[in-house]
Amino acid sequence: MSKAQEHLVLGIDVGGSGIKGAIVDVKTGALVSKRIRVKTPDPADPKAVAKVVARIVRHFKWKGPVGCGMPGPIKNGRVRALANLDSSWLEVNAPAVYTKACGCPVTVINDADAAGLAEMRFGAGKGRKGVVILTTLGTGIGSAVFVNGHLVPNTEFGQMEVRGKSAEQRASARVRKARNLSWKNWGKRVDTVLRALEQVMWPDVIIIGGGVSRKASRFLPAITTEAEVVPAHFRNEAGIVGAALAASPRS
Ligand code: BGC
Repeated sequence: MSKAQEHLVLGIDVGGSGIKGAIVDVKTGALVSKRIRVKTPDPADPKAVAKVVARIVRHFKWKGPVGCGMPGPIKNGRVRALANLDSSWLEVNAPAVYTKACGCPVTVINDADAAGLAEMRFGAGKGRKGVVILTTLGTGIGSAVFVNGHLVPNTEFGQMEVRGKSAEQRASARVRKARNLSWKNWGKRVDTVLRALEQVMWPDVIIIGGGVSRKASRFLPAITTEAEVVPAHFRNEAGIVGAALAASPRS
């Protein structure tokens, strides 16, 4: 890798419907290539997902570091729980599976933690001290907690029970669509979840990520938390940028 390429990392975000990747300049957080998106295979078992990840690596003729974000708590490389993943992932050593398929070193991180890294470094959380929580409202609900800029990894607030249901069963973006909820009514559900979260974490700032952050003006008026709530800066690209940051030798 030439000197000029030293701060480039391929970031990949494995999601429920698409697997997305782009080359990221980890110094600036900018995508320096076009973003590629491949439909998530069904079933999304380790072999099938690793094949798509390897295809993305080949697409970019990439030989350098790769960062990959995916759902689920990832402890010492192993996938420890499955809320939004095919059951065959449980206890799988994800970095080993991807590295073997791609032929280059792959670092794996929880997708919401990745999004949080991007927002804290370059986006809505930049310079924010205290307790910052990012929640991604998508197919599931992901979370990332930062204390004075340091990540507390693998928080799973989407699995927290709120009034008899998991937070993500109550207020994910998927629920809004499936139940055809108005932005206002869905906003109230998000508020119930964020207030429950506030009771146990007392964050200073809550950043709302995921595709819905584009529509923040439609549902943020329903939020009544004491903590300031702000939309993410990166929208849907935070996962790619943050995954690249996680794999960056310099970050
Ligand atoms: C998973 C989290 C993930 C989130 C977003 C949830 O179902 O438990 O680990 O961050 O979905 O993909």
